This record gives sequence, structure tokens and C-alpha cells, in this order.
Amino acid sequence: MEAWIRAVGEEKARFAALVAGIPYEKKGILFSEMFFFQLGARSAGAKRILESGRARGQSTLVLSVCFPEVPILSIEHDPNSPDVAVAAARLAGRDHVQLLFGDARRRMPELAEAGDVALIDGPKGFAGLRLAFRVLATGKVSMVFIHDVGVGTPDRAWLERIAPEAVYSDDPEFARLCHDLDGAARDDLPEANRFETTYPRPGYGFTLACLPRIPVATAWWRLAMTAIWGVIHRLAVRRLT
Ligand SMILES: C[S@@+](CC[C@H](N)C(=O)[O-])C[C@H]1O[C@@H](n2cnc3c(N)ncnc32)[C@H](O)[C@@H]1O
Repeated sequence: MEAWIRAVGEEKARFAALVAGIPYEKKGILFSEMFFFQLGARSAGAKRILESGRARGQSTLVLSVCFPEVPILSIEHDPNSPDVAVAAARLAGRDHVQLLFGDARRRMPELAEAGDVALIDGPKGFAGLRLAFRVLATGKVSMVFIHDVGVGTPDRAWLERIAPEAVYSDDPEFARLCHDLDGAARDDLPEANRFETTYPRPGYGFTLACLPRIPVATAWWRLAMTAIWGVIHRLAVRRLT
């Protein structure tokens, strides 16, 4: 994380200039979070980017602008959503982006190739965590990002326990330096996740987690543990409600 924080000074203005003309779309990953992704994916030398959960194409469009030389494979589960046409229109003419449909839980591990970086923004919760470990278990993907793992959620608590090496976009210092990138999206953030509310604690934004490559056996072990913990958590919630 320290290296990323050090890179902010040099890289932030360049990123801001690249995304300057892009309006923020509801449900989208925040600009500061996409900047966090960009720093990580560049440090990993991403050969391709696999995205799961396109919706209206906010994150896909930012990816396409920030990585013009990198093939982007974007998988969306729901071909009948009104979001499909919005994403297609926003991404028209971006030939390095493939707009795919299907269940990323199956398609992402199938598509993975050496040097890929993955971004998971659907499925959510424990299903998203399982997909992340499944993708790392291919042994091909060099880094995986998971969206919506905010402080206080059960999946964040589990991730901190099972993957202590993970880093988060809501790191207070990163948020302090970068939350101004989110000007247009500020009103979409719940008050509890705004910078003024959270700083100097972690918790800003919707939160993107970054998991670096781990040994394949570790990834399979974590996948199994996450599946078991997910069931225990579901049963516990059911008992309490
Ligand atoms: C929050 S939205 C994604 C927003 C998008 N990343 C952006 O920044 O604009 C979540 C999307 O994930 C999709 N999704 C949910 N489960 C999925 C799965 N298993 N495979 C692929 N997409 C999935 C949903 O249909 C929805 O469009």
C-alpha cells in the first residue's frame, strides 16, 4: 500500500485528465476506486483485464480509457436488463473491449489466462469472495479486485481474516489523497461512507479490495474455507431473524 500511496502524487493528475470527460453513472465504481485499480493493475503488468458485473458500463468505460492497449473482457449476467443498452452505447467503438454475457462464476475461471487481472463487481458478498479465490486458484491471474467490501460487512470481516495481505481503497491515507476524484459521485454515497464521516478511520466509499496472487493450493484452501464460512454465516443469520 505504501508504494501505491507514493505513486498517487505522480499518477493522480494523469488519471484525472483521462477520466475528465466521463460522467459518473449510478451503481458505478467510484473514480477513486478505479484509480486504486489502475495503480494495482499497472504494478501487476496486466496483460488483459477480466471484469465481472458491467451494469451501465461505468467501470468498463473507465477501464477502456485507462488501459487503451489492454484487451478488456467484460462479463454481465443479465442480458435483459435495461442497463445493457446503456453500456453498449457508452462503449460503442471501443474495439479492445468485449461485451460478454454469462455467469462469471463459470466464465471467469474458464477465460482466465496468464497475466490477467480481474475486477469483480457482481456477484456480491460471499459469492464474490468465492469467485475471487476460484479465479486465483487457476494460478493464472496475477491480481483480483473485489468491489463492495465495506467496513462492517460480514464479507469484509472474513476477508481480513482469511486474506491478511489484502489492501483496500478505503485506506484512510489513500482516501484522504484521492476522495476529491469522486466529486460527481459524492451525493450517491450514503452519509456513513462519506469522507467527512469516516476519516481518519477506514470506510470511505463503496470499497475495492485488492488480492495479490497466492499459491494455487492456498487459493483452493481459502475457497473451501470461504464456502464453509458462508454457510455458517447464512445459518446464523437465519437463526437470528
Ligand atoms: C453494481 S453493478 C456493476 C456496476 C459496474 N461495475 C459499474 O461500475 O458501472 C453489478 C452487476 O453485476 C451483475 N452480476 C451479478 N452477478 C453476476 C455474475 N454471476 N456474473 C456476471 N455479472 C453478474 C449484475 O447483473 C449487475 O449488472
